Amino acid sequence: MGSKEWRVVNPSGSKRVIVTKELPGERWLEILAEADCKVDICTSKDVLSIEEIKVAIGTRCEGAIGQVTEDWGEQLFAALKAAGGKAYSNYAVGFDNVNIDAACRHGIPVGNTPGVLTETTAQMAVTLTFACARRVGEAERFLRAGQYKGWLPTLFVGKLLWRKTLGVIGAGRIGAAYARMMVEGHKMNVIYYDLYPNKALEDYLGAYGEFLKSQGQQPATCQRAETVEDLLREADCVSVHTILDESTRHLINTERLALMKDNAILVNTSRGPVIDEAALVAHCKAHPNFRVGLDVFEDEPELKPGLVELENVVIVPHIASATIWTRQGMATLAASNVAGILMGYPAWNQPDITPFLEGNSPKAAPSILNAKELDISIFNSYK
Ligand code: DGY
Repeated sequence: MGSKEWRVVNPSGSKRVIVTKELPGERWLEILAEADCKVDICTSKDVLSIEEIKVAIGTRCEGAIGQVTEDWGEQLFAALKAAGGKAYSNYAVGFDNVNIDAACRHGIPVGNTPGVLTETTAQMAVTLTFACARRVGEAERFLRAGQYKGWLPTLFVGKLLWRKTLGVIGAGRIGAAYARMMVEGHKMNVIYYDLYPNKALEDYLGAYGEFLKSQGQQPATCQRAETVEDLLREADCVSVHTILDESTRHLINTERLALMKDNAILVNTSRGPVIDEAALVAHCKAHPNFRVGLDVFEDEPELKPGLVELENVVIVPHIASATIWTRQGMATLAASNVAGILMGYPAWNQPDITPFLEGNSPKAAPSILNAKELDISIFNSYK
């Protein structure tokens, strides 16, 4: 199994599944045991290299659960296939670390874990937004350094986010949940940029605006921006929720940062490379009232030079999905993806995955990204 430490669960299982990190909870292990799988789990906290994962796959491995920190491409899918592999699941909703074309070439279904990260990640975006607006990082560092000498009218004066303009880039599940939280909590007016209109979000916020009117209050509004530039010019606070692909890499660059208000807030809980981090460091240095909250970084775990020294930046280590409920739910979904395929089940076809989180799960794999390409049958009734 290579140089890293591994432990085995259900050693008598007839199929072998490798899991490249310890996952929280027990239910995911029960799901794999019920599918008659022996589970080899890497207990090391180090990021595994392609070579180390290949060694772990070895000559016999029916399934694998991997992490966003690993490069699941041609080499690993070829190795998995050669070892008799039939299923892979990312322990994540994002899958920019997975080469789906390579998986398809080797006939390996790829799962992900949507639906359990939505509110959790949106709440982290809200947390970073207010940490920026109210200068929480700076104030805490000041206090811990013993510099607090008493209340002052001018101490760490921040920005009131109330009925201001909120820009949401990428209005999928998480972006829309963040928008709703900011509108319902703080009566923000939303502009969103997305390739597709989000009618459900527009209708929801439209109805909420009507409700506010019925209470004699000014309604909050929601509109789709024509361009990302329009959004950046207008918004007081921008939160990024796009996927990472070639069209979104460095979406926020020097030119676009220059369009933003000097005292705007920029939050990123999506993927680091969506922002040109070196350009961001330069922008923050030149605009001390511009504030940034980051959960993700361009070259994780490395940070671009100068980032940590900036007082106007709040940084946390890719923990937006880190609540117990979410991380256990992700484990359940990842295990159900692998177990479902190994059991020959069809792919689930509905956005609501909550039935998998309860006792009597559907006989399906909850989220298979390449089900269509691989001609995997689709679940069509709840038994
Ligand atoms: C994801 O799921 O894509 C996160 O980035 C890791 O939780």
